[in-house]
Parts: sequence; structure tokens; C-alpha cells
Amino acid sequence: MAQILVVYFSRNGSTAELARQACRGVESVAGARAMLRTVPAVSASSEAPPKPVPDEGPPYATLQELSAADGLLLGSPTRFGNMAAPLKYFIDGTSALWLDGSLAGKPAGVFTASQTMHGGQESTLLAMMLPLLHHGMLLVGLPYSERALHTTRSGGSPYGASHVAAVQQDLTEEERALAQALGRRVAQLAVSLKSQAAPG
Ligand SMILES: Cc1cc2nc3c(=O)[nH]c(=O)nc-3n(C[C@H](O)[C@H](O)[C@H](O)COP(=O)(O)O)c2cc1C
Repeated sequence: MAQILVVYFSRNGSTAELARQACRGVESVAGARAMLRTVPAVSASSEAPPKPVPDEGPPYATLQELSAADGLLLGSPTRFGNMAAPLKYFIDGTSALWLDGSLAGKPAGVFTASQTMHGGQESTLLAMMLPLLHHGMLLVGLPYSERALHTTRSGGSPYGASHVAAVQQDLTEEERALAQALGRRVAQLAVSLKSQAAPG
């Protein structure tokens, strides 16, 4: 079974909903299973540290889970055209995995939610790809053979799945379809790579 880790940060729920749709796409692939995880908020040293366990929703991702995963989907709100600090903080804690190459050759995709249409979704998606490339991951995007990429009037791009909250609070049909497609594509590649790597 190929395990796909879906890790996100979300304050207001849009990125969390994209993550759940990506999980649906993963789970639609035979031989793939999604593992949904979040990351803690970051706080200044003068503030109370985040609780070790979230009050609700999925648990926090661990480095062991990331290392063992066969594929990764990474999601963040767009903040000033970039990923949110909690997700960057999590990624900055992955040096050991970078050194031992445990993510190299594994597929990954990225997703984001922003308030506005032209508020920096694409720069956020591209920025999220950079550390994954340093890890040697194989970036998976969305081709225009995905019909929803032609018809969307809100989120969704070749660089990854996305949601524009200003268009409507809930994900549009196209945004849902594209988040699922991204999950499906990462899972399909992970299953294929895993079966090639299996002995015999
Ligand atoms: C500090 C901060 C910076 C933000 N920067 C942007 C931005 O550059 N462009 C944009 O469109 N929205 C920006 N937003 C809005 C969020 O991207 C938007 O509310 C998003 O839907 C939040 O995702 P979430 O519901 O998963 O928390 C920003 C929000 C915050 C708190």
C-alpha cells in the first residue's frame, strides 16, 4: 500500500478543505492510502507555545511519518505571496531527511488558498516546491487534460490546486475537482514507483 502524507496548515478552513479533497483523490487510487496531518501554529518566544496535540482535527505530522511516506501533498494559505510560517517551520525541521535522502525520488504536489484571485497563489505554489526540489522530490502538477482547469473561474492552476476565498467561501466544483485530481495524480505515481521498486 502506498502511503500519501497530506500535510497542511490552515487557520480559517479553506486549505483544510482542499486537503480533504486531495485525500479523496488519493483514496480513489487502488493501492493508495491518504494520511491527513496538520502542523502547529508558531508563536513568538514570549507567547505560550502551541499545545502538543491539536484541540480538534487531524494530528500533527511527524518527521517519521514524512520519512516513511511514499508521496506528499503539501498545503498552505497564501500569506504575502508565500507559504505560511508554520508550514515553513515544519519544512525547516526536515534537515535530517534531506541529509539521508529519504524523500528523494518520491512524488509531491502542492496546494494553497488565498483571499484574492491575483493575491499570489502561483508564487506560493512555486515557493512551496523549492524545498521539495532540494529534497529530490518529483513535482506533480495539473495538466490541461484536467477539464476543470479550462472552466474554472476561481482557483486551480498547472502548479497545483487552489481556492480563492473571495469568489465564494466554499470550494467551487472546479476547485474540488482539481484538488482531487492532484491527489489522484500523486497517488498514481507513488503506486507505480513503489511497484517498480518492489523486489520480484
Ligand atoms: C498574514 C496574512 C497574509 C495574507 N496574505 C495574502 C496574500 O498575499 N494574498 C491573498 O490573496 N490573501 C492573503 N491572505 C488571506 C489568506 O490567504 C486567505 O484568508 C486564505 O483563504 C486563508 O486560508 P485558510 O482558510 O486555510 O486559513 C493573508 C492572510 C494573512 C493572515
